[in-house]
Parts: sequence; C-alpha cells; structure tokens
Amino acid sequence: MSDLLLVNGPNLNLLGSREPDVYGADRLEDIEARCTAMATSLGHSLQCFQSNAEHELIDRVQQAANDGVAFIILNPGAFTHTSIALRDALLAVQIPFIEIHLSNTFAREEFRHNSYFSDIASSCLFGFGAYGYELAVQGASQYVGQAEG
Ligand code: DQA
Repeated sequence: MSDLLLVNGPNLNLLGSREPDVYGADRLEDIEARCTAMATSLGHSLQCFQSNAEHELIDRVQQAANDGVAFIILNPGAFTHTSIALRDALLAVQIPFIEIHLSNTFAREEFRHNSYFSDIASSCLFGFGAYGYELAVQGASQYVGQAEG
C-alpha cells in the first residue's frame, strides 16, 4: 500500500471543453475518479491536485515529501516547456515520477518538443489521451511494488 499523487498543471482543469480535438472529451474530474478507482483496486491511495499557479504546484510537490508520497504522476501542462523551478522541486524531494501528456508533444509545435522533466522522470507517457493517466497509475503501482521488493 503506497500513497500516490496525481498533479496536473495549468489549463488542465478545462479538460473536456479545452481543444477537444487535441485533448479529448473527458473532464479532469472523470479522469481523477477513474485513476482513484484504479489505484484503490491496486491497493494504493491516490491524492489528486490541479493548479494553474506554478508556486502552488511547487508547494504541493514539496508537501508530498513531508506526507510520505511514494510516487508522483505529473502533467505539468505548459510548465513542461518553461519551469526550471518545478523541475528543481522534483529534484529536491527525490520522489520518483512519471511525466504524462495527453497529446504527443513531439508531433506538435517545436516549442513543445523540449521538456524540463523527461530526463529526470522514471518514465514518460505521451499521446495516449486520457487513457494515459490509467496507464500511469498502473506504471506507478508496478514501480512502487518493485521498490518495496
Ligand atoms: C500537455 C501538452 C502541453 O504542451 C500543453 O501546454 C498542455 C497539455 C498535454 O497533456 O498534452 O497544457 O501537457
């Protein structure tokens, strides 16, 4: 039994209505509900957090270390391409994480090709849409299971 944390960055609160041709029709609360159910079925707990503010995402990652969170699933949204500060927070807490994106950012504008997170992530998921979040929970469960031995 491990504590997992799902963190979503800016504009992901608008999933369902935001560019549905790119990000799909599922709302964030539906994605979070499915991930929570999957985590529970795998014997873990999952907390979910979304913010449009960089400092709130940083504060949540820092808090995760105090809370004993074992693994983070992170979609940094547009901060993927800009935020050294959020990267530094993940390096500081040393909590393993999966970087996830609904879209395949490499098939989009060039400014989306760089990520400040991919090289420090345990693994990365790009372009599976909302289903990627469920894959991430399964991946996180596998990771913490191996870590526990
Ligand atoms: C995103 C990709 C980012 O480039 C974009 O800024 C987002 C969503 C994704 O999930 O595909 O907000 O992280």
